[in-house]
Amino acid sequence: LLRTLAAQQLLRDPRTVESAGGPIVRADGRERVNFSSNDYLGLSAHPALARAAADAARAGGWGAGASRLLGGTSPWHERLEHRMAAFRGRPAALYFSSGYLANLGLLAGLGTEAVTYFSDERNHASVIDGLRLSRAARHVYRHADVDELRRLLRAHGAGTHRVIVTDAVFSMDGDVAPLEALARESDADLVVDDAHGTGVLGPQGRGTPRGAGIEPAAEVVTLSKAAGASGGFVVADADTIRLLKTRARPFVYSTAPPPAVCAAATASIDLMEQAEDRRAVLRRNIAHLRERLGAPGVTPIVPIVLGSVERALRASGRLWEEGFFVPAIRPPSVPEGSCRLRISLTALHRPEHIDGLLDALAKV
Ligand SMILES: Cc1ncc(COP(=O)(O)O)c(C=O)c1O
Repeated sequence: LLRTLAAQQLLRDPRTVESAGGPIVRADGRERVNFSSNDYLGLSAHPALARAAADAARAGGWGAGASRLLGGTSPWHERLEHRMAAFRGRPAALYFSSGYLANLGLLAGLGTEAVTYFSDERNHASVIDGLRLSRAARHVYRHADVDELRRLLRAHGAGTHRVIVTDAVFSMDGDVAPLEALARESDADLVVDDAHGTGVLGPQGRGTPRGAGIEPAAEVVTLSKAAGASGGFVVADADTIRLLKTRARPFVYSTAPPPAVCAAATASIDLMEQAEDRRAVLRRNIAHLRERLGAPGVTPIVPIVLGSVERALRASGRLWEEGFFVPAIRPPSVPEGSCRLRISLTALHRPEHIDGLLDALAKV
């Protein structure tokens, strides 16, 4: 397998980079402008996060010691979940070690034989894995194609609980799902993974659904991107959250995230909510790059589709030599033949970083 993947140029081998959370990384003794990070608001190096973590570690120890079902819920976990529920304006939230695990916990945990899932073909791997681990039937609709979804809804899942699952912002394309149209499907519930909209879209960064004026049955949120922290949530009504505490295996069978991580995560929600200045800079950066590339959109994820694995790797390598870190995205992260550069913008990029990237792109 190793040899086959290597021959297909599909073997991944992450670079070693040093970063202090800013727009510059150091690697091979040289600095490069970083367009690979989802730290959209540039909060990961904020001193308030390190302070909150250090205080909690002193008071609560580092490791949580057990899963919460065995060891109980600490005040740091409780405060964090209340804070997240309030941030999203929903009754309850459950914290997982990552957004990946939140999707697994929700979709596999509640996906019994009595459920039928309808899933966008470009949903994140953690959504796909959650569906695969479930016992529910599943149907995949063409990307953002509401008409095809309606046909599938008419044809499948009669007598079961139908659930539409979609990313709010698609992680490799940077486009936004047609949430209002999906929410209008009255014979199905909607689950939205808002990993990339959180902190970026909606009033005070409260997320894509809020910005679209809809309230899905459940939202999956992660703090690993715009919040600059880590850990994922399911945010929903109180009964769904009660059920997940029994059914979500990544919650039941995994040691709870450390109190220090919870404290930093809570601080990150405060920062993210108040970060209007940073959101304004991010919006300017998004408009600047997208306008110059002729790529309309509102999110900080800007793909440049090049086609073959070779082209994408070559372009990424040339940019690296020119001083820019822009990852090449290959299958299985994207469909074959649609390999791409994935540019990720943050509030810490300055106009000259973006202009420099545009000049370098013109050469590759
Ligand atoms: C759409 C989407 N959902 C979920 C995740 C997983 O979140 P986390 O990195 O917190 O595991 C990611 C990114 O990693 C993502 O892009």
